[in-house]
Amino acid sequence: MAEKGSDLVRFGVAMDAELLARFDARIGARGYANRSEALRDLVRAWLSDDHIDGGGMAVATLTIVYDHHVRELSEKLTEMQHDLGERVVSTLHVHLDHDHCMEVIVLRGPAGQIQEAADRLLATKGVEHGKLVATALPTAAGHGHHHHP
Ligand code: NI
Repeated sequence: MAEKGSDLVRFGVAMDAELLARFDARIGARGYANRSEALRDLVRAWLSDDHIDGGGMAVATLTIVYDHHVRELSEKLTEMQHDLGERVVSTLHVHLDHDHCMEVIVLRGPAGQIQEAADRLLATKGVEHGKLVATALPTAAGHGHHHHP
């Protein structure tokens, strides 16, 4: 992902040789062409987490696995998603086996509200597994030269 209109700045980094060797092995395995690109992604991820913790706008996927034999659970989960309105962008439903369904719910909105909605869905009786993966919205993450007060 390229930063539009950014000036490249070079800087030196002092690092323990063993730590650097492990970093190089890891970035090689992940397919990075060089340390700079890997480091940029690490910094972006770190800033994105900070942004989310600070309550900025986020996009997220919530994956849940539930037992659809639990009484009225499917209806309840659907109703909860309707109540979230436009914060639910899309939902993918997969019939995993005879008993279980998986839903991948794409969410978008203030990070706090997204987290709260995910917590509520995950805490619903009959939901067996789940995980929220959230990332800061690129336009609101302070990239580039546009700064909003
Ligand atoms: Ni199903």
